[in-house]
Amino acid sequence: MDNIKQLKKFWSKKKVFITGHTGFKGSWLCIILSYLNANVHGYALKPKKNSLFRKSEIKKSLSSNTFGDINDIFKLKKKVKLLKPEIIIHMAAQPLVIESYKNPLETFNTNIIGTLNLLESVRNVKSVKSVIIVTTDKVYKINKKNKSYKELDQLGGFDPYSASKVGAEIITDSYIQSFFKNSILKNKISTVRAGNVIGGGDFSKNRLVPDIIFAINNRKKLKIRNPQYIRPWQHVLDPLLGYLMLAKKQYLNKINDNQHAWNFGPSNKNFKKVIDVVKYIKKLHNFNYVISTNKRFKETKYLKLDSSKAKKKLNWTSKLSLDESLKFTIDWNRNTKKELSIKSICERQFLMYINKK
Ligand SMILES: NC(=O)c1ccc[n+]([C@@H]2O[C@H](COP(=O)([O-])OP(=O)(O)OC[C@H]3O[C@@H](n4cnc5c(N)ncnc54)[C@H](O)[C@@H]3O)[C@@H](O)[C@H]2O)c1
Repeated sequence: MDNIKQLKKFWSKKKVFITGHTGFKGSWLCIILSYLNANVHGYALKPKKNSLFRKSEIKKSLSSNTFGDINDIFKLKKKVKLLKPEIIIHMAAQPLVIESYKNPLETFNTNIIGTLNLLESVRNVKSVKSVIIVTTDKVYKINKKNKSYKELDQLGGFDPYSASKVGAEIITDSYIQSFFKNSILKNKISTVRAGNVIGGGDFSKNRLVPDIIFAINNRKKLKIRNPQYIRPWQHVLDPLLGYLMLAKKQYLNKINDNQHAWNFGPSNKNFKKVIDVVKYIKKLHNFNYVISTNKRFKETKYLKLDSSKAKKKLNWTSKLSLDESLKFTIDWNRNTKKELSIKSICERQFLMYINKK
């Protein structure tokens, strides 16, 4: 992985267009890229009140900030044409499975047509030299064997969210084969697949680590469901740095294998029980919890990604263990109480991450 000097050397003054920049991953990415002196342009819906985007005040560091709908092809196209970005990272999406059952039409529109609009906006814009389309680990058709998924495994999505991201994958493949294979964008567009992430600044409800932080901050008793469930845990910095490494390689014409999909999953050691995570955080921070007695125990299958392609071709690995990822997240929360600026807390953790051997 690049050191901070190498990162700054490449990213300084690069014009980067991020869709979904007001979300959790997008805000971290804006903070990192602004720290590396890139010219960051964002396009997304307005942020939620309680969000990393607002709390970090990252808007002040952006070169431009557009609140717009990804489904608005005219506005999006106009922005891309006007700004002439060199690198595009497309993250705007409806990212929640439960929400996708409630609002399938919105999910399919945003995740499929939104991606189509982005690809359409990129065509004929000569400044663009690298495009990253963020999908998910949920694009793989579930196999019965407990094996790790590789990029060429069959795709399939059962719930509307997964199906919409499979749609984004297929549309990207179609655009590459139909329009970009013989253009200057050959080998410069990829889809990236990672699972759920944790980290400071995630204020989502009904997710274990944000719920624990809420319980700590508000002295509330935490109710734990399904303590024996096994989940993968990955810090948000791990996939984000993978996306940046891939974006750089594409920009520098160093990708030449015609396989546009990339996995950026956690290491197998980061699959742990919910209760183990609770106990680990309790060692760092006191809080009370009760285990809800749910008799309908049903283990959810969690996908394991085989990320050996990213390791081999980008020298990328998931750097943070589960303990380290949790410590980063809890420390982030502690530091926000010391009246340090949230942006500087994120920057400091980014530096610790980069300097970690
Ligand atoms: N967070 C995770 O654990 C995780 C896991 C796998 C994949 N992903 C993917 O990573 C990306 C970012 O996820 P996140 O967790 O930061 O989500 P988030 O909900 O925090 O952010 C989503 C972003 O997309 C924008 N957006 C949503 N609908 C839009 C629309 N119609 N027009 C314009 N912008 C719109 C929002 O404004 C926001 O900026 C998504 O593509 C998601 O599917 C996330």
